[in-house]
Amino acid sequence: MNIHFIADLLDHFKIYKDTTYAIMAEAARRSHTLYACEPQHLAWTGTNVEANARRITIVGDTANSDRSPWYAAKQAEYMPLTRFDAVLMRKDPPFDMEYVNSTWLLEIAERAGARIFNKPQAIRDHSEKLAIAEWPQYVAPTLVTRDAARLRTFHAEHGDVILKPLDGMGGMGVFRVKADGMNLGSIVEMLSENGARTVMAQKFISQITEGDKRILMIGGQPVPYSLARIPQGNEVRGNLAAGGLGRAQPLSARDREIAKTLGPTLQARGLLLAGLDAIGDYLTEVNVTSPTCFREIMDQTGFDVAGMFIDALERAVA
Ligand SMILES: Nc1ncnc2c1ncn2[C@@H]1O[C@H](COP(=O)(O)OP(=O)(O)O)[C@@H](O)[C@H]1O
Ligand SMILES: [Mg+2]
Repeated sequence: MNIHFIADLLDHFKIYKDTTYAIMAEAARRSHTLYACEPQHLAWTGTNVEANARRITIVGDTANSDRSPWYAAKQAEYMPLTRFDAVLMRKDPPFDMEYVNSTWLLEIAERAGARIFNKPQAIRDHSEKLAIAEWPQYVAPTLVTRDAARLRTFHAEHGDVILKPLDGMGGMGVFRVKADGMNLGSIVEMLSENGARTVMAQKFISQITEGDKRILMIGGQPVPYSLARIPQGNEVRGNLAAGGLGRAQPLSARDREIAKTLGPTLQARGLLLAGLDAIGDYLTEVNVTSPTCFREIMDQTGFDVAGMFIDALERAVA
């Protein structure tokens, strides 16, 4: 297959932990042909959606995951997205207006026959934080609003809460306010920008000490191991980007139940790859833009997550 990756700048990849790299390496190992561009290299010409795509090959000793260079690229050329067997949208958030613009461009290409994963419409329609609302049976007590007074009432009711922006990532802007209410006022003002922005308040889930579990869903099926990201020291956030420790572990019965419930819906919507996050028994996020954690699970368990993904991709375009 010819597989085209829309991703961030390849030169900035930390290949020892990068999921997109793990996917590329497995695809190359199976003799698929790789192309890559960044979102700004997409164009609609009035007839086609094109990528200014570079054909790339993986170079060097693949056993050395700290090597540089790790890829070689041919001269970029404009190619319609319909020329590839599969296009993988792997741009990292922020999910801003330019991200939305990319999904619109990709949808034009899809109408012309391009095979795009995840499906652009599904990426656009899923709020990674609010998507949990579809499965209320798995959601911890939560309030989403701009209204400072309601956020205060929620805190008064639950005592120990997390406040976070709807469009954060990597733990950005996540605050815990305990029963004493210390800093509640200024955190609410800051996150809501005095009522201009929507905020999520959630009951603090004490099982976070056992980690924020990433459950990878590939082709509607769960990877059998989650990556529990465990906050370190005084940190509230388990995100690896915030210094969390990643520990791979078998899925719990509840993890499996959540996966079984969500799997068919995600698959039907064209979400070939999704990253569910669960804290204890609760679903907290449904990540669909560019889910990660392949590498950590592969390294710690030997389970071939990238292989499972390429299997699903090969089936999806067959
Ligand atoms: N309800 C909660 N209870 C306990 N900890 C939470 C809760 N919500 C978020 N956190 C902590 O904050 C971190 C980041 O929150 P998350 O909702 O995953 O946002 P992000 O998109 O930034 O990853 C989590 O890994 C966890 O450590
Ligand atoms: Mg998260």
